[in-house]
Amino acid sequence: MSRLRIFAEDAPQTPELVTHDGDEIARELRKIGVAFERWQAAQPIAAGASQDEVIAAYRADIDRLVAERGFTSVDVISIAPDNPKKEELRGKFLEEHFHKEDEVRFFVAGSGLFTLHVDGRVYEIECVKDDLIAVPDGTTHWFDMGPEPNFVAIRFFQQPDGWIGHFTGSDIAQHFPRYEGRD
Ligand SMILES: [Fe+2]
Repeated sequence: MSRLRIFAEDAPQTPELVTHDGDEIARELRKIGVAFERWQAAQPIAAGASQDEVIAAYRADIDRLVAERGFTSVDVISIAPDNPKKEELRGKFLEEHFHKEDEVRFFVAGSGLFTLHVDGRVYEIECVKDDLIAVPDGTTHWFDMGPEPNFVAIRFFQQPDGWIGHFTGSDIAQHFPRYEGRD
């Protein structure tokens, strides 16, 4: 189940709000310009499905999003716990950074933890299967796939080099919970 927790930036132990309600998550995130949606597959996706099969199952929503936001490419990333580079991959975006284009991810399977730092608050979103999150360009955030990463996600891009991470040098991410995977 998806989960949103909102903290004051100086109180990582005590969330001000915790919700698993998709509509409430979307409402709270909309206030800071972040889109959150839950999508339904048009047909079941078998384990080991190809990139084309995954995209076909969500074709209508993908086409809508591409038309709305002008994406130029869409791909599918898949990371399993047996990935030999899992520590390196996990470490890549664990500290606070931003991008010069929107970071848009749809979780086809598995889960991951996006944490956003906006206006003195920290918004921690556990994304699971069927969750779409769109983090606007310039929004400071970090992403944790956990020690046993396990997800398939559709990624949307506006520019070939748009998704470079610009790191702020802040250590705030180290004060907030890391991701341990699904309970
Ligand atoms: Fe990022």
